[in-house]
Amino acid sequence: MTASDAPNPVPAKDWSAFQYEIYLNGIAGTVPRLPTDLSRLEQVAERRLGPGPVGYVAGAAGDGKTVRANREALDRWRIVPRMLRDVHQRDLSVELFGTRLPAPVALAPVGVLSIMHPDAEPAAARAAAAQGLPLILSTASSTTLEQVAEAMDGVAAGAERWFQLYWPKDREVTVSLLTRAAKSGYRVLFVTLDTWLLAWRPRDLDQAYLPFLRGVGTANYFSDPAFQAGLAKPVHEDLNAAVLHFAQMFADPAKTWADLEFLRAHWDGPIVLKGVLHPDDALRAADAGMDGIVVSNHGGRQVNGAIGAADALPGIAQAVGDRLTVLFDSGVRGGDDVFKALALGAKAVLLGRPYAYGLGLDGQAGVEHVLRCLLAEFDLTLALSGYTEPGQLTADALTRER
Ligand code: GLV
Repeated sequence: MTASDAPNPVPAKDWSAFQYEIYLNGIAGTVPRLPTDLSRLEQVAERRLGPGPVGYVAGAAGDGKTVRANREALDRWRIVPRMLRDVHQRDLSVELFGTRLPAPVALAPVGVLSIMHPDAEPAAARAAAAQGLPLILSTASSTTLEQVAEAMDGVAAGAERWFQLYWPKDREVTVSLLTRAAKSGYRVLFVTLDTWLLAWRPRDLDQAYLPFLRGVGTANYFSDPAFQAGLAKPVHEDLNAAVLHFAQMFADPAKTWADLEFLRAHWDGPIVLKGVLHPDDALRAADAGMDGIVVSNHGGRQVNGAIGAADALPGIAQAVGDRLTVLFDSGVRGGDDVFKALALGAKAVLLGRPYAYGLGLDGQAGVEHVLRCLLAEFDLTLALSGYTEPGQLTADALTRER
């Protein structure tokens, strides 16, 4: 047997089995605590959680045109199932940045999760680790990156974790964050390109709700020695000064492509640029020596009226070919969306709001529920459409509605 036809050392996980687990639990008198149609989570969260936190997570730029465009872009594509192709055995695993993951999904970076649930990022991180999937920790998390790494290691030592950077204006703080992240085992760096300024977000503005200004979602900064070095007094003695210092350095809208060299010089692992929507920007990322991109409009939270992310995806994937690993987010709510994103050229997708709602409604169990629903539905959609592996999906599996 040669290496290429050796069996995968990690047995493929049967994600669809969650369906039978749910039905069997039903015989014992238990039904799921949260909807299994993940598109309904927002509605449930709106009813059960506070208006500030839900408004922040559900909210969007302007009147929400881009959020709608994201859904429309995915919905315009229709899956064309194929029959009699032996789909009884399936393997959803994919190789990403040198690691094999059991499925093509990671938890997107979502900041300030303590507003959704007191267990916050560690709960989401444990849920991801329990499913063998990566969490991308936001720089703006309400828990330090070290604590989140520890939470993941408590589930599975060395659990795959990636770090998202809101690239601060201050170079020392940037280097310090990168050094801390690398030391805590975060292997891939995701650099957000679309949030140098916060967009006009009416749901937050109407409630004058921005948790960071109360020192929530600033844990990585407030715990950082390079950040602390810029303060006259310790954070706990002058919170307002610390918040001001944070606000002044949070992002630098003057950054250009040339600045990426700085990150390359201070991060040894793969670097992925998040928020790419134009094929020329994707090509520039490849020219700059980046390893991947996330085709994303930040879940419609930044530019109102922007192109739906799934409308941008095929042109970008085609332009970069195999020069970059192409990932996708913005609008994913079900297994069919994962299928479509992969068929349009993404290697994997990032899931955002649905897991934040799952967390808000049921803590770690809620996030695990969301991940297992998404992947069971994706697995079933794959099988019922005539495919057994993510790598088989191409645009041939889809047709576009007029
Ligand atoms: C920050 O990334 C946000 O979208 O609120």
